[in-house]
Amino acid sequence: MLLDNHDRKINYVRLAVTDRCNLRCFYCMPEEGISYVKREELLSYEEMHRLITVLASEGVNKVRITGGEPFLRKGMFEFIDSINQIDGINDLHITTNGTLTKGKVHRFKEIGIKSVNLSLDTLNKERFFQITRRDEYDTVMDTLHELLECGIKTKINCVVMQGQNIDDIIPMVAMTETHPISVRFIEEMPFNGSGDHPATLHWTSHQTIQHIKDTYPSIEKVPDPPHSTSMNYHIPGHQGTVGFIAAYSRLFCGSCNRIRVTPQGLLKTCLYDSGVFSIKELLRHGASDEELKGAIQSAISHRAKDGFEAERNRGINNTVSESMATIGG
Ligand code: 5AD
Ligand code: SF4
Repeated sequence: MLLDNHDRKINYVRLAVTDRCNLRCFYCMPEEGISYVKREELLSYEEMHRLITVLASEGVNKVRITGGEPFLRKGMFEFIDSINQIDGINDLHITTNGTLTKGKVHRFKEIGIKSVNLSLDTLNKERFFQITRRDEYDTVMDTLHELLECGIKTKINCVVMQGQNIDDIIPMVAMTETHPISVRFIEEMPFNGSGDHPATLHWTSHQTIQHIKDTYPSIEKVPDPPHSTSMNYHIPGHQGTVGFIAAYSRLFCGSCNRIRVTPQGLLKTCLYDSGVFSIKELLRHGASDEELKGAIQSAISHRAKDGFEAERNRGINNTVSESMATIGG
């Protein structure tokens, strides 16, 4: 079992399978000048499969496949299927932008995906273009409808951005009336690949909740699942739910049960650290499973208490600036 130095059990790994993306959401990536990780620097499918097998033998049962956009990597369905076959892995999820899966959503169920997080910040086609710098709104909406038709548990990730999509908050919430989806409003974080920290956060989760209360005064708190990063709410009569992820305020670190693996094979024990060691180096230097386990256990026994400590540990010349596409959210 993987237990950290703050008595938190680690049973969840977020595996970012690529840093490439076919969208350019401005809060995640600059429009131009992105240098992607070279193919040979990415963990191979075999390496990721071995890593997850080792983690599963240490009590990890939950995996989220994330990116970049996972489906940009060829053979992704087959890879996910192979992860689902690993002994002990019984809780498999994916985060996608929904641009590459139109017409293929039925396969999600066949390969054992339990739920899909769809990144969608607006229900307005023009605004979608402004935010993502690509004209893919209709395709993403087709994916969303297929997800609903196939009865796949779906969460929408909506980053709340001052001056951008505030007008979308209420229409997003309205979707939960007729659809059994969970819409989650995420605080904007500094992971935009440019090093520009938003100086202040205009829309904290708290402010977004207050804003929704003006239109939906009956909105009520519902219990949060264990280790949830979202604070969950429901409007009486609605089929779906509304969640708030205070990612900037970092309200959820106390119960954190997750680690992250970046596309180039760095282990991150916190979203806000800069990577604690290279799993890839170990794998490529012939480490045994026992050596791999030992290195992971050691990293987990030196975990920062929360995202603030992890950020401080990066040092002054190493502020948070990487793109979310290299972290996997
Ligand atoms: N702040 C908050 N959320 C972000 N995401 C990407 N970049 C940021 C950011 N700077 C979210 C996207 C996606 C998930 C993987 O991370 O909404 O759904
Ligand atoms: Fe791509 Fe997601 Fe980043 Fe948008 S937020 S550019 S969809 S990885």
